[in-house]
Amino acid sequence: MNPLAPLPQLSETAFQGFRRLLRDTAGIDLAASKKPLVSGRLLKRLRSLGLGGFDDYLHLAQRDAGESQQAIDLLTTNETHFFREPAHFACLRERILPSLQAGRPLRIWSAASSTGQEAWTIAMVLARHLPQRPWEVFASDISSRVIATASRAIYPLPQAREIPPDFLQDYCLRGTGRQEGQFAIAPELRQRVRFARVNLNAPLPQLGSFDVIFLRNVLIYFNGDARRALVQRVVERLAPRGWLLVGHSESVSDLGLDMQAVMPSVYRKP
Ligand SMILES: C[S@@+](CC[C@H](N)C(=O)[O-])C[C@H]1O[C@@H](n2cnc3c(N)ncnc32)[C@H](O)[C@@H]1O
Repeated sequence: MNPLAPLPQLSETAFQGFRRLLRDTAGIDLAASKKPLVSGRLLKRLRSLGLGGFDDYLHLAQRDAGESQQAIDLLTTNETHFFREPAHFACLRERILPSLQAGRPLRIWSAASSTGQEAWTIAMVLARHLPQRPWEVFASDISSRVIATASRAIYPLPQAREIPPDFLQDYCLRGTGRQEGQFAIAPELRQRVRFARVNLNAPLPQLGSFDVIFLRNVLIYFNGDARRALVQRVVERLAPRGWLLVGHSESVSDLGLDMQAVMPSVYRKP
């Protein structure tokens, strides 16, 4: 492509096409004001494929499942960090873990895990506060790109600042040589966390049931029936007396579910 050629413009028709693609596949309702975001995020992909315009790219994404997944990867917002919304991890340690019956292995699901920082934070808290009991973390996201990063479990060193020093020392390894400037999650945690691509906007695969589900900072992208259906699908995977955590700015109280609100953004199944 000629670098001096004018930038391709995202037509209103193509923008509506990408909105529909995202809504039909992922259930995400992209606001009408997000046109600049869509053109900014898709431009590089369109160029790397040598396509002249967004309409061509939309047609490709509509007929090719792999390209549709690529477009969804680019259009989802994956912001996350270690120990995000720390009150939830205090709640996990002080209220949730003591409330769970001893015996069978504890299972926690990070249901929109993005690049994995939430799942690794949960794993660090369990390793520290549940040393005697078997546990496992399952983490999933619709984006295969973020799942690849999450399972690699290697992060840029500046992100280590988000992790309390005692956890950093016990559960993270500082890279040397070619890994300089990065850190890795320790192998004993990596053995107990599994990542997979799961679309929460579709029937869920066989996942078993969970004692705790983190469904944080993803409901904000859903509206109406899609939001209700998604939460119902997820809550079905909670064991009796299981816990659901949503983001601090989110709530499921309006959905009329049979869930007890324990504190803002924390719910428990009867
Ligand atoms: C802002 S991140 C939240 C990450 C993490 N839970 C946190 O609170 O830090 C939202 C994630 O939801 C994922 N997501 C959006 N729609 C989804 C869907 N239909 N199914 C599964 N994940 C989805 C996005 O790919 C993104 O990684």
